[in-house]
Amino acid sequence: MQTLTQTLTKQAVSESLSQLILSLADCSKEISQAVRHGALAGVLGATEQENVQGETQKKLDVITNDMLKDALKAEGNVRGLASEEEDYVVEVNKQGEYLVCFDPLDGSSNIDINSLVGTIFSVLPAQAGELTENSFLQNGRQQVAAGYVLYGPSTMMALTTGNGTQLYTLDPDTNEFLLTDPSVSISQDTAEFAINMSNQRFWEAPMQTYISDLLLGKIGTREKSFNMRWIAAMVGDVHRVLCRGGIFMYPTDNKNPEKPYKLRLMYEANPMALLVEQAGGKASTGYGDILDIEPEAIHQRVAVILGSANEVETCLSYHGLDY
Ligand code: AHG
Ligand code: MN
Ligand code: MN
Ligand code: MN
Repeated sequence: MQTLTQTLTKQAVSESLSQLILSLADCSKEISQAVRHGALAGVLGATEQENVQGETQKKLDVITNDMLKDALKAEGNVRGLASEEEDYVVEVNKQGEYLVCFDPLDGSSNIDINSLVGTIFSVLPAQAGELTENSFLQNGRQQVAAGYVLYGPSTMMALTTGNGTQLYTLDPDTNEFLLTDPSVSISQDTAEFAINMSNQRFWEAPMQTYISDLLLGKIGTREKSFNMRWIAAMVGDVHRVLCRGGIFMYPTDNKNPEKPYKLRLMYEANPMALLVEQAGGKASTGYGDILDIEPEAIHQRVAVILGSANEVETCLSYHGLDY
C-alpha cells in the first residue's frame, strides 16, 4: 500500500506543500496518542477558560491547539495560522508560503464519553506583505489543501490537494498513514440524513418543510424512507458521508438571534466543503456554494448543507435554488 509521502509525490504536489501536509500528519499522530490515553493521561474534562467562540474549552482543546501551533512553528513554510481556539491570527514565519486554519479538536463534547473526535485543517496561499486577519479572508476555492484526521477505532485522514479526495488509515504497527481509498466518490443519492433534530422549531421555513417531507418519506412526496444519524462531531458525520453518502446539515436557526449559525467557515465549513466537492458531492449554505463565500472575519460562522449531490439539490429546491 502507498504511504502518504508516496501518494503526494505521485500527485506531483509541490515539495513545500507536501512538507507542510506531512508535518500536519505527524502532529495528528501525536494527537491520536494523546486522545487514546484519555483518563490515563488526565487529559479529559474542561478548563476554566472560554474561547473566542464563547465555548468553555476542554483540556484537550487547549492541548491539541498547542501541539498544532508548535508543529506549525517548526515548519518553515507557514506564514501564519488561525485556529478556533485562538482569538487572533498568529504570525509564524515571514518567509512562509502558506496560511493554515484549523479546528484542533472537532466534536470536543464527545471527548469525555470516549466518542469520535478529529482535527480539521485548511491550507491557503500566503500573500506578500504584512500578516493580518485580512490575509486569511480568502474564499474556500483558494484552498491548496484541506483535510481532517478522525480519531476513531482507527485513525484516518481525509485529504484533498485538488486531485480528488483520498482516505488514509494510520497503521498502528508502523505509524504510517497508508492510502486506503485513492478516490472517494460520494453516492449521488442517499436515504440517510444527519441534523440536530432538537433545533427543529428554530429553523427557517424551507428547512422545516424539507425535513418534514423527508420524515414523511413515502407517505408524503418522497419516493423512499430515510434513516437518521448524528455523531455530534462534524468530522464523524462528514466521514460517514464520504464513506457511504448522506446529507449533513447544520442550518440557520433562531435559537440565539446573535448566533444564527453554529459551524465556523474557516475551520470547519470550507475544508469539509472542498473534501466533499472533490469527492463529487455538494456543499451549500442553502443559498449558495460554501466555497464561494467571501469571508469577512476569521471566526465567521455559516449554515452548512453538504453531501450526496442529488439530495443536497432537493434540499436547495426548498430554498428556491435549483442548481
Ligand atoms: P467543536 O467541538 O470544534 O466546537 O465543534 C462542534 C460542532 C461540530 O463538530 C458538530 O457538528 C456540532 O458542533 C455539534 O453540534 P450539537 O452540539 O448541536 O450536536
Ligand atoms: Mn469548540
Ligand atoms: Mn469543530
Ligand atoms: Mn474544536
